[in-house]
Parts: sequence; structure tokens; C-alpha cells
Amino acid sequence: MTTPNPVMPTYAPQPVAFERGQGAWLYDTEGRRYLDCLSGIAVNTLGHNHPKLVAAIADQASKIIHCSNLFEIPLRHRMAQRLVELSGMTNVFFCNSGLEANEAAIKIARLYGHNRGIDLPEIVVYENAFHGRSLATLSATGNVKVQKGFEPLVPGFVRVPLNDMGALNRVAAERPNVVAVFLEAIQGEGGIQPARNEYLREVRQLCDRQGWLMMVDEVQCGTGRTGKWFAHQWSGIKPDVMPLAKGVSSGIPVGAVVAHGIASETFKPGNHGTTFGGNPLAMRAGLTTIEVMEEEGLLANATAMGDLIMHGMRKALAGHSGLVEVRGTGLMIGIQLDRPCSEIVALALKAGLVLNVTADSVVRMLPPLILNAEQAELIVATLAPIIRDFLARPAARAA
Ligand SMILES: Cc1ncc(COP(=O)(O)O)c(C=O)c1O
Repeated sequence: MTTPNPVMPTYAPQPVAFERGQGAWLYDTEGRRYLDCLSGIAVNTLGHNHPKLVAAIADQASKIIHCSNLFEIPLRHRMAQRLVELSGMTNVFFCNSGLEANEAAIKIARLYGHNRGIDLPEIVVYENAFHGRSLATLSATGNVKVQKGFEPLVPGFVRVPLNDMGALNRVAAERPNVVAVFLEAIQGEGGIQPARNEYLREVRQLCDRQGWLMMVDEVQCGTGRTGKWFAHQWSGIKPDVMPLAKGVSSGIPVGAVVAHGIASETFKPGNHGTTFGGNPLAMRAGLTTIEVMEEEGLLANATAMGDLIMHGMRKALAGHSGLVEVRGTGLMIGIQLDRPCSEIVALALKAGLVLNVTADSVVRMLPPLILNAEQAELIVATLAPIIRDFLARPAARAA
């Protein structure tokens, strides 16, 4: 008789367990070494076992790990101050994950609408978006696979295609209850699909004209990954609401919703809360992550290493039919093929690279921001032949 797996089967994991990591390297339980091109899906900003982060977490753990939000938490104040400085926004609510940050953003938008006398507020969301797996965030997500079986969905979302200003203008003309636009600056799960800078600027203008909140989900693309602190900063706009998570504390779970202007005045005592959010251990990890990113010039490094990988991959795959596009910003990189390619994950793992495939046909890389040039070159040298071989296989040929 086989023992039933005590873990709920919500994932189908690769048959590898990592025991430890060092910098951009991961080591499995057999002692085999892998180059980490995924960072636990954009989480391990500083790579693994960064001495400053490890020392800060250990020091903080020896002082105080958790303290209720019913008391002042000076580290939370300092971390909020840093995010306010880096974003140019007003204030922050801390939670523990991306979906929680997005849930808070949705609540801010709804309350903002109610405060303006709109009883049934609507939020514009996007095709192929991903915002999380709670009921509200899966309803905002533009992927039926995520929603199937969990109906009835939460109402109050209007969906449009990305980068289509005409569609958004039509919503403005037809739907008086809209209070906010909610989009990823770069869709991650949707296949590394950027909102164009011009589009973001036009959305900003429309939001200003309509009195809508512009809410930019930077859970995956934020925290320096694209070479700016936040991906929307490439367009020069400032959102009203910006959910963050993943890379903020380099592995200690932290979510944050950063708000600006009127959005920052929406929540009042009793409107929202959390037990763990903003606790001293999480905040110390966040402060240290930002400090190390500054000390080690990791924004510039993300741009330089991202360019190295993208140029290298374009060159190595040039002329290969089956390659649609190598795209990305900084260390948020997608290689779009013309066919489903989830098998590449196992092939790469065998060759010592940890990466994943998203939106069925996009090889996705989100390496730690401490990646060096030698490692970037190794990624290209290892991955390009895997993709070339995969595209050459008869079974993989596009129909
Ligand atoms: C853009 C975006 N928003 C929200 C989430 C949900 O974050 P979490 O898994 O921490 O709830 C994700 C996770 O992949 C994401 O990529």
C-alpha cells in the first residue's frame, strides 16, 4: 500500500529538492549544482545565503520576530518610508503575499468608489492578467483555467485587452460605475507581455480625466527586477496604488500595497487588517534587501545582465524557425516559441538550469539580481542548444 501524499496536490513539482543555495547557485539533496534562473518566481532578489541578509535575519530573530500591529513597529515605519521614497508615493499597508496586496488594492478601489457615491463600483482588468488565487484576485485574473470550478466569481470587474486604448475609451464612455484600472506593468504569468510605455501614459491621463484610480500590480515586475525600482517608472507615470510582494524581502514573505494621493487616504481604522503583515522580521529583511540592492548596484546589474542574456539568446537562436521573440526588461525575460514547450523545464533542469515555462509557450527567466556576467553567459550557452534541439524535434514541430 502506498502512503498517500500528505501535501495537497495543487502543484506537480519537478522531482528535485533543493537543500541549499549560494549566490545564484542551488544545490539539490544529491549535491548537484544548478544555476537559478527563476529565483523562486522572482522572490530571491539577493540570491541565496547573502551574508548581509542572513546576518540581519539572525540578529532580528534574536531580538523580536513578531509583534502585533496593535503596537508601534519602528521597522515597519522605516520600511514604509523607504518604499515611499523609492516610489514617490504616499503611504504603505503591509501584508504577506501578492494576492493579499492585490486584495487590499481592490478594497481601496471599492471603498474609493463608495466614498464617491458609487454603490456598485467596477474595476477595469485585463485579458491574460494574473493577480492571485483568492476569490477576488482570481476573478480579476484573465485566465479561465484559474477561475474554473470556483464560480460564482466576484462581480465588479470589466475586462479589456492590453495596450488597446480604444477598448478602454469605450469602457469610459459606457460604464459610469468604473472607479479604477488595474493592470500589471509587465504581465508575468501572461507570458512576459509589457504594457507599452505610451499605453501606460495614456491610461494615466484617462484615469486623471475620469477620476479613476490607476492601480499597477508590480508583484512580479517590481523591486528592481526590470532595472528600475518599479517597472512603471520606465514610462514616467506614477500610479495611485501599487501592490508589491515576491522580491521585496528576498524570500521572507512580505506583501505591500503602496498608495498615493487620494488613494492613500481611503483606508481608515477598521477598514483593513492583518496579523502578520509588517512584522519586525519581515521588515528587517525588506530593509536589508533594499540596502544591499543599493550598495551592490543591483538595478544597473539587472539591466546589464538582462541585456547580456537577451542579446546572447537572440544571436544564438537567430534564424531558427519556431522562435517568435526574445523579449523582456532587465532580468524579467521571456523567450516566446510558436508551440507549447513545457518540456523545456525538465531538459533545462537536466542541464543544470532552473527556469520555467509560462503561458504554455514562453520560456521564462527571472534570475536573482546578483547574477554576474559569467553566469549570464552560461545561461545562454546552456539554454540556446536546448531550445534549438527542442525546436528541431519532429514531435515538437508546430502543427
Ligand atoms: C503579477 C502578480 N500578481 C499577484 C501574484 C500573486 O502573488 P502571490 O502568489 O504571492 O499571492 C502573482 C504571482 O505570481 C503575480 O505574478
